[in-house]
Amino acid sequence: MTSQVRGVQLARLLGQWHALPGRRRSPDYAALAAAVRGLLADGRLPLGVRLPAERELAEALRISRTTVTAAYRQLRETGHLASRRGAGSWTMLPGTHRVASTGLWTPLDDRDMIDLGVAALAAPPELVPAAHAAVEDLPRYLSGAGYHPTGIIELREAVARAYTARGLPTSAEQIMVTSGTQHALDLVLRLALAPGGNVLVESPTYPNALAALAARRARISTHGLAVDGPGWDADLLLGSVRQTRPKLAYLIPEFQNPTGHLMPAELRERLVATAHAAGTDLVIDESFVDLPLDGTPLPPPTAVFDRHSRVISIGGMSKPYWGGLRIGWVRASAPQVQRLAAARVGVDMASPVLDQLVAVHLLAQAPAIVAARRDQLVTQRDALLDVLAERLPDWRVEVPRGGVTLWAELDGPISSALARAAEEVGVRLAPGPRFGLDGTLERFLRLPFTLPAADLVEAVGRLAAIRYDLDRGAGRPRWREPAVIA
Ligand SMILES: Cc1ncc(COP(=O)(O)O)c(C=O)c1O
Repeated sequence: MTSQVRGVQLARLLGQWHALPGRRRSPDYAALAAAVRGLLADGRLPLGVRLPAERELAEALRISRTTVTAAYRQLRETGHLASRRGAGSWTMLPGTHRVASTGLWTPLDDRDMIDLGVAALAAPPELVPAAHAAVEDLPRYLSGAGYHPTGIIELREAVARAYTARGLPTSAEQIMVTSGTQHALDLVLRLALAPGGNVLVESPTYPNALAALAARRARISTHGLAVDGPGWDADLLLGSVRQTRPKLAYLIPEFQNPTGHLMPAELRERLVATAHAAGTDLVIDESFVDLPLDGTPLPPPTAVFDRHSRVISIGGMSKPYWGGLRIGWVRASAPQVQRLAAARVGVDMASPVLDQLVAVHLLAQAPAIVAARRDQLVTQRDALLDVLAERLPDWRVEVPRGGVTLWAELDGPISSALARAAEEVGVRLAPGPRFGLDGTLERFLRLPFTLPAADLVEAVGRLAAIRYDLDRGAGRPRWREPAVIA
């Protein structure tokens, strides 16, 4: 699929592209090229799209065509643009970059880059021994063909036991193993949502869920979360379910990504009842359920309140264990699991047996591994909070009671500009608009505390330095002076 971005669209995406630090020192063409690279870096400009012709962009930005020509030339030189005479120019990535799990790209060879775009921990020390033990187990499976569309039974049983231990009686027939939570979501959407169906999500929400919904051409409406308090406004949330009667609602009740909010038990119960009355299926993403911090008690799983198979829960190993395992799951009714397995045959057929065995060994040590992860996260979260209070005291943060991210309210709508500038000083950020639908959320920034404390402190130090430059580079920030609309 070739898509094209028009001059006015790119101009809108670029926004205040000249508001980069050092803007006064670097020529216009370099600032423009840097801004386009920034859009690629934060995923707002996709790969493989055709950029507008030079003249069209020059008109849209009200700058000279020579500036655009020079910017495109620089983008070609840095490997971000491929051009064919007469056919146009397409966005691409330099060969030395990889795509990170957030969809952001990161340089392979830049060891000094601190990646705050990815909210996931490095693997625990138990992983390699678990992999060795899994290899020892493998011969038990080798006499079969190795295709298990719902997952190997011992992993399904282990996952079912964990749900039961959380107060939600579950049998192995109700579990389907997937290749990560993202895959679980995609499969559920294939089953439960016709193309073009309407879906309610939180705003902000997890960007890759938005990507999965976009792939189903979903019509998305949002429930805006408050920064503080419980986050969800019960009356507004239930009101929009009643009024818009979405086919499906995708929610993250445990330590919501990115805000860290925890949905109270009472709202879970009312939500399930309201969803049932409205004919709405609830897809509940429990990615962070294992990571309450500071001994925060967990409300019952949302599915506890479900009497009508309205709630499909998804979760996985990525956050408490390791993203590279690519193990997730769906908990649903046994017939739904069978239908999901049938849908999966047309997608990837089954998950790798060896990886599932590694997961079995890790889950067998869950209490110890997860306790160590929580300790590590508390230390890192507190280090991040301390350095933010010291270096960027104007940013407002709520202390999250679990999960792996802070959702910082910045001192202005600068998130994208900050992310672009941060690239230049070796910090990768996922700016606020990545977590919404329409380019809003510029006042917010997600900061994960999944890296070692020293890296977090260093990263915030660099951000504090460029935050100051951002103001100087752009003159007095425009956002302080509301524009008059006549
Ligand atoms: C809310 C949420 N859902 C799903 C995922 C994807 O998880 P997985 O790596 O298991 O596919 C993530 C990862 O960041 C997440 O934050």
